[in-house]
Amino acid sequence: MDQKQIAGLLNEMTLEEKVAQLLQLTAHLHEGAEDKGQITGPKEEMGVTAEMVNASGSVLGLSGAASIIALQKSYMEKSRLGIPLLFMADVIHGFKTIFPIPLALGCSWDLGVAEKSAEIAAKESAVSGIHVTFAPMVDLVRDPRWGRVMETTGEDPYLNSLFARAFVRGYQGSNLAEDKDRLAACVKHFAAYGAAEGGRDYNTVDMSERQLREYYLPAYKAALEEGCEMVMASFNTVDGIPASGNEKLMRGILRDEWNFDGVLISDWASIREMIAHGAAEDDCEAAYRAIRAGVDIEMMTPCYVRHLPQLIESGRVDEELIDEAVLRVLQLKNKLGLFENPLRGADPNRERELLLCREHRKAAYEAAAKSCVLLKNNGVLPLKPESRVALIGPFADHEDILGWWSCVGEKEDAVKLGPALQERFTGKLSVTAGCGIDSMTAEQLEAATAAAREADVLVLALGEASDMSGEGGSRTDITLPEAQLELVRQLKRLGKPMAAVIFNGRPLDLNGLFDESDAVLEAWFPGTEGGAAVADILTGSVNPSGRLTMSFPQSVGQVPVYYNAFNTGRPMDPSKTGERYVSKYIDSPNEPLLPFGYGLSYTTFDYSGLTVSSDEMSAEQPLTVNVTVTNTGARAGVETVQLYIRDAVGEVVRPLRELKAFERIDLQPGECRTVTFTITEEQLRYHHSDLSFASDPGLFQVFVGPNSRDTLEGAFRLI
Ligand code: NOJ
Repeated sequence: MDQKQIAGLLNEMTLEEKVAQLLQLTAHLHEGAEDKGQITGPKEEMGVTAEMVNASGSVLGLSGAASIIALQKSYMEKSRLGIPLLFMADVIHGFKTIFPIPLALGCSWDLGVAEKSAEIAAKESAVSGIHVTFAPMVDLVRDPRWGRVMETTGEDPYLNSLFARAFVRGYQGSNLAEDKDRLAACVKHFAAYGAAEGGRDYNTVDMSERQLREYYLPAYKAALEEGCEMVMASFNTVDGIPASGNEKLMRGILRDEWNFDGVLISDWASIREMIAHGAAEDDCEAAYRAIRAGVDIEMMTPCYVRHLPQLIESGRVDEELIDEAVLRVLQLKNKLGLFENPLRGADPNRERELLLCREHRKAAYEAAAKSCVLLKNNGVLPLKPESRVALIGPFADHEDILGWWSCVGEKEDAVKLGPALQERFTGKLSVTAGCGIDSMTAEQLEAATAAAREADVLVLALGEASDMSGEGGSRTDITLPEAQLELVRQLKRLGKPMAAVIFNGRPLDLNGLFDESDAVLEAWFPGTEGGAAVADILTGSVNPSGRLTMSFPQSVGQVPVYYNAFNTGRPMDPSKTGERYVSKYIDSPNEPLLPFGYGLSYTTFDYSGLTVSSDEMSAEQPLTVNVTVTNTGARAGVETVQLYIRDAVGEVVRPLRELKAFERIDLQPGECRTVTFTITEEQLRYHHSDLSFASDPGLFQVFVGPNSRDTLEGAFRLI
């Protein structure tokens, strides 16, 4: 349809038909069942009637080509004006073929991998009938207690922005109308959900506007610049106002400043939740605040359908606001080509062919292999082919490796570590659990100890159950569960070389494991092909190349601890341990256990000869930074060369380091390469106290190295 036809359609709609377009309900309700286990409760409690369900303009969480085709057909038969339903779902890190969790994908530092994962997720979902995914989630995170850190790519605004773009490109492609194998993307959660106080889910977010703009907003903006079609509002308050009713955020920043004219959807029941927040007295006031703030679609509560008509009749809300919202929804349906073809990509035959196909599994394998991060290695990895190995731990033979938000992925389809290692390992391998995720029996321990006694080397497979992270998965203690720590203690007594592989959704407090182990491999939740990828890394056919995108704290007491922090007026000098009145803890170092950007390889890299092309640069005259990286080990490997800068003096104080560029390079043993980075004035800009975005002349330090801590240094002046 052209714009005129869309406008004509809107003209023909009754007010009831319009508000119905602004309601989204789950498939369960459409199918006549209640939405089990969800916070909104049964239909009657929600205040949702059968008529509302039948008329609502979009559906959440249904998948499967046959079911979607059936529902779309019956809906279209009843639709007076022939307006098709939109089907949306949480396709977060894969649909049926599950990729590593986004935090793990971030650790690949490989944008191509992220884009590919989204492209494949889109293809599998689109043939299963879905039109929109509630992804990417690009919330900046600094607090690993928050279970949802697994959904994002980490603590850095620049890296998060690059990944946001890559995911959007992968999901949407370049032509949504033509390319039926793509989905519309919905960036979330706007805004700053990742800064929930204390890492407790849904909790208050409060920060200066400068902080918000400098660190938290860039990744959402990047997604929109890449053409992302939708935005989801967050659950939290921002400066005292729930995001879903926050005019300054939505109308102000999103619509007026950034010119976003796509659909803005609430989060699950978050319009009604303004009552619990204490920001609205009842559903009617909640609807009033949300529509004024610019939320178009209400997810899972009926405040809009029940109250917008009367708000318009009473003159409190202008019908134009509703028309704008409905128009955006119709335009999205049109952009997806739904008016011409309401079934779009839904195709049971292709669905059978594509879901979990060999090519998709291969891509999931590659992503997993690139996402694992080697955190420590005293030479015990890779395993020697002739060794006798005891694989011990709750994840030794466990399929719970997909992670939270694994859509229609099934654990049974996951390649488990035990069998994968058995296939690849030429030596002798035994597999025992030793304990459960958080329980241990005497028999389990006995069997594991007996197996360990027979072995030359122990490989422990430990971690969190997938429901210990994800939405509603906040923890105050982020160590491994006690039963697993006990297993480590018991096995340590045997005095054998010990490597640990950990499966988890957040940076953990590794006390009780890190010092006790000779090697630690962070596997995250690696997805469907996880066991295969981890086994290949353990046996050495894959050289690990992941780098952390979120700092690992020494203990939870340090949280939040992140690399791009400020210096304070009394920075601690680690060589002067006795000083009291400096910014430090008396019982812990200031530094995290493992910094942002960190990760080891089976080979070693040497950095030398950092040169800055000039002492001075200007807006017209960028400069280049060169560094030589040599593979000094005996095997080929991938190094992620990272460039950070520090603005020595700012009108507003500037972080100790900020990532500005990086390059992944592949080096053969003995090979050296000079990596060149260009620094432009644009990269030196920041938000000043008046919120203007500009650079300041003066001294800048530049750091290049394998992570944010161990770097070579240079300097230049911006004139
Ligand atoms: C709540 C979550 O916060 C959001 O990320 C998700 O997309 C919706 N539920 C829909 O499932």
